[in-house]
This record gives sequence, structure tokens and C-alpha cells, in this order.
Amino acid sequence: MKSNMKNYVSLWEMQDAAVGLLPGLAKDYYQSGSEDEYALRENERMYRELRLRYRVLQKMGDVDTSTTLFGREISFPLYVAPAAFQCMAHSEGEIANARAAADRGVGFCLSTLATQPMEEVAAETQGRIPLWFQLYMYKDQGRTRELLQRAKNSGYQAIALTVDAPAWGKREVDIHNGFHLPHGMWIRNVDPDGTETLPEGDGSSGLSDYIGTRFHTVLGWDDIDWIRNEVDLPIIIKGVHHPEDVRLAVEHGVDGVWVSNHGGRQLDTSTATVAALPDCVEAADGKLPIVVDGGIRRGTDILKALALGANAVAVGRPALWGLAVGGAQGVSRMLEILGDEFRTAMKLIGAKKVSDLKPEMVVHSGWPFAGR
Ligand code: FNR
Ligand code: LAC
Repeated sequence: MKSNMKNYVSLWEMQDAAVGLLPGLAKDYYQSGSEDEYALRENERMYRELRLRYRVLQKMGDVDTSTTLFGREISFPLYVAPAAFQCMAHSEGEIANARAAADRGVGFCLSTLATQPMEEVAAETQGRIPLWFQLYMYKDQGRTRELLQRAKNSGYQAIALTVDAPAWGKREVDIHNGFHLPHGMWIRNVDPDGTETLPEGDGSSGLSDYIGTRFHTVLGWDDIDWIRNEVDLPIIIKGVHHPEDVRLAVEHGVDGVWVSNHGGRQLDTSTATVAALPDCVEAADGKLPIVVDGGIRRGTDILKALALGANAVAVGRPALWGLAVGGAQGVSRMLEILGDEFRTAMKLIGAKKVSDLKPEMVVHSGWPFAGR
């Protein structure tokens, strides 16, 4: 492991190091997508397919990379996406991840399936950054109700309901590994006493078995109403891919949409999220903010997503790589790299502030002349 985080110059270098450091069970779980992993690869590949057109002689001094979402300013338009079981990457897990996000002034979203209690994660950020709680609904309504109340009471400012998991994506390495949580690790949000572990699957993923028995997966728009009745917090739906669902989200008074395919871990061969973004932005018609994730690895990826209409992006795996190589310092370095690359890309394209980023700056490599 590199002792000085400054030795990492790109997220790719951090990924390579993390893969070499993580135990096989964790590496496989973090890296994998579902089935043949087309969606996983496509998320990243599509950003390479998109090209940028830049302007010159714009007197580009410093640029303002900040943006505001739900009334909270962030230093650049990025959230750390929810990812389960982060203590497999570093002993501090979600607490270290949130500390780094707070230090870098970006948003943080905690998974229901965290390996640290939501209250301790919230306390770590000391209210300095936007903090969202990602919800998986349990069949046990009382448990879901308690999660929502605790999130509200401990300072989470929005609920991100994950809606792309009516079934569990077939992660084949997890099946071969009989994915389970290492001894001494459990789902701390729903079980303070360590009884809710994740036993080894028998020819299956222990996570898939857990979700199959515990989660309320037959979600409908009425569940949004149920959550709204339980807790007075903005609701974002995470895992949206189709513009019709964005239109319905507006109709149902949802507060935000998170365009995502779960990092390619759910419906394989779903299109890249950046390819789904423009139609979703058009359907939103400016009536609600849009976050997009999946395959964001460079500052230019952030710039492309915003130029195509996203209000912010989120990263999942890169934060896990940061945890693996250096805990909070590793995540902080990852965020520093992305933020610096985004700032440089804004200067080079001729955008002084985030709102200057426009669709006409982005062209597809197959036809490099926008509009013609
Ligand atoms: C995830 N993701 C996820 N999403 C969610 O709503 N709840 C969760 O608990 C998790 N857990 C999780 C674990 C791991 C290991 C990964 C890789 C992903 C999906 C995550 O929030 C996000 O949508 C994707 O990770 C974004 O894609 P990238 O940045 O990983 O390419
Ligand atoms: C995953 C779940 C936990 O993708 O969202 O592993």
C-alpha cells in the first residue's frame, strides 16, 4: 500500500491498488456486476464514446465548481453513493467514508446495509455536508418505520429510496463465493447486537438470500406515499432509467430522481446511465433535480453528465477503492483527484460556473459534429 496518498494520480491507479489489497470475497463483491457485466462495462465505456467541444479566449481565470442541491451547497457536484458493507474495505468503513466527504465538502449517502450505525456516521459529518439515507424497505413495516425515524432524528436530510431491485441481480462471483459477511461484521443499522449477520450462501449469495426473505421488493408508487406519511423529508428515487418514470415521479411529487442502473449490478445489458440521462432530463422538464451515477471515473465524466443536464453525479466503487488503499485519507484523495480534474476540465472547455455547461458541448465520437 502506498503510504503517501499523493502518489495516486488517477482513480484507475487507486482501483488497481485496491484490487491488489482487498481480500477476494470483498474484491469480488465490490467489483462485480450482474451476469455478463455488459451494463457495468457500458457505464464506463459510454463516457469514453462522448467527446467534448471547447471554446477559447474566454479569459478563463478561476472557475466556480460549486453547486446547490436541496438548498445545500457542495464544493463540486458530487455525492458519494450508498454502498453496502464498507467495513470490508477498511475497519472504519462508512464512518471514514463520510469523514472524507465532509472534509471535501461533497454529499454523502449511507446505505441501509451499512456496517456502521447511521447515528455515528451522521455525527462524523457534524452537519457540514448534505447527508442522505438510502432506504431498502423491509417486509417488517415497523423496522422500516424505525429506520426512517432514526434517519430523521440523526440529521439525514433526504431519503433515497432504491427502486431498481424488485429482483436481485445475478452476481455470479458472489454465488461462487457464497457471499457472506466476515466474522464480527453485521448490518449495524438494523441490528445493534450483532445477531443480523449474513451467513454463507449454500450455492447462492448470502446477500441474495437475506434480501429475498427480508426486503419488501414489490414496490409501487403507493410506497412513496407511505414513506411521505412516515417521515417529513425530501424523497429521491434511486435507480430510475426510463423517462416515463421521471414523468411519473414529477406527477407523484417526488423531490428528486437518481438515474442509475446500480452500477451494472441489476438488469444486465441495460443502457449506460449517461445514455439514459438526456431523455430523463427532458422528461423532468426542470421540475425536479437529477443525480446520475455509474462509471464516473474522471472529471470530464462529471462535466459531460452536467452538460447533458444532471444536477450532480455520484460515485460508488471509487470511494470503496479509496477506503481500501487508505481509509478516510484514501477517499479524500479520490475526491481531490476528481474535483481537481473537474475544475481543469471546466477551465479547458470555457465554463466559468456549473450553469455554463450545456448539451452542445458534448458530441458522440461516432459523429463529432454536434447538431449536423
Ligand atoms: C452498490 N450500490 C448500492 N445502491 C444502493 O441503493 N444501496 C446499496 O446498498 C448499494 N450497495 C452497493 C454495493 C457495492 C459494492 C456497489 C459497487 C454498489 C449501487 C451504488 O449506489 C451506485 O449506484 C453504483 O455503485 C454507481 O456506479 P459506480 O460508481 O460504482 O460505477
Ligand atoms: C448491492 C446492494 C447491497 O448492490 O445494493 O450489493
